[in-house]
Amino acid sequence: MRGLEDRVVLVTGGGSGVGRAIVDRFLDEGARLAVLERDADKVASLESIGSKELVTVTGDVTSYADNERAVAAAVETFGRLDVLIGNVGMWDFSRNLVDLSPGELEAGFRDLFAVNVLGYLLGARAAAAALKRSRGAIILTLSNASFYPRGGGVLYTATKHAGLGLVRQLAYELAPEVRVNAVAPGAMATNLTGPKSLGLDRRQIKDIPIQEYLEKHSALERAIEPADYAGTYALLASSHDALTVTGTVFDISAAGTPHRAR
Ligand SMILES: NC(=O)c1ccc[n+]([C@@H]2O[C@H](COP(=O)([O-])OP(=O)(O)OC[C@H]3O[C@@H](n4cnc5c(N)ncnc54)[C@H](O)[C@@H]3O)[C@@H](O)[C@H]2O)c1
Repeated sequence: MRGLEDRVVLVTGGGSGVGRAIVDRFLDEGARLAVLERDADKVASLESIGSKELVTVTGDVTSYADNERAVAAAVETFGRLDVLIGNVGMWDFSRNLVDLSPGELEAGFRDLFAVNVLGYLLGARAAAAALKRSRGAIILTLSNASFYPRGGGVLYTATKHAGLGLVRQLAYELAPEVRVNAVAPGAMATNLTGPKSLGLDRRQIKDIPIQEYLEKHSALERAIEPADYAGTYALLASSHDALTVTGTVFDISAAGTPHRAR
């Protein structure tokens, strides 16, 4: 499995969940990686892999300067940047509109859009020149909530639908040099957390018994792990297998969504 040997990849939120699964898979496939991650313990865990093909940057995707530092780390360490994987997200734990006070609605909107939408834009802006030079690619992590209700509350669903707009518009704006696509996974038990303004910063999606639920009720009746989604990212990152793919979302969320495929 060495299909990514020619790729230098920046992954945001590579410390756990989908991002960590991408890091592990891409290292196996021979990629060289930079990771932008906010959590110092997760950065330490990445560094303990001890790979010279991996450089970490501690920072926040909502800061342009941190995104710029991460791009610079990739280019300075490995000489180029071929792929940006914008992956950091926050969830709203399915808070419905009428369950949010007007104040929570405003603050939650700002916080969720800052991470789930602005974070992707800042990453794309910081990486655009390097990706144009390498004729590279952007891959965003979207969600079943990019297409359907019930993957979260109204704020999360709005941010993940906004992600569709980012993919379509950026694929147009950055063509012909840069391909822009997304992967839409379904539910997984990860560290995915929510905004402090909604009192959700200490909760994690894995505290909900998602795995058991998916084993019984998802389309494929199996509990999906983040690693099960990593191959689709590898395909989209490939310099040869995805040459014709831009402006689209691989919606592979049915496996993690109750009974939708039936
Ligand atoms: N878990 C699910 O059920 C699910 C379903 C569909 C889509 N997604 C999407 O998958 C993506 C990854 O989520 P996950 O489930 O792997 O969650 P996760 O919390 O395990 O991974 C996110 C990583 O990003 C880091 N992070 C959080 N905020 C950051 C910030 N502001 N700056 C830098 N790093 C930050 C976290 O420390 C963590 O390592 C998100 O975009 C999420 O919306 C998740």
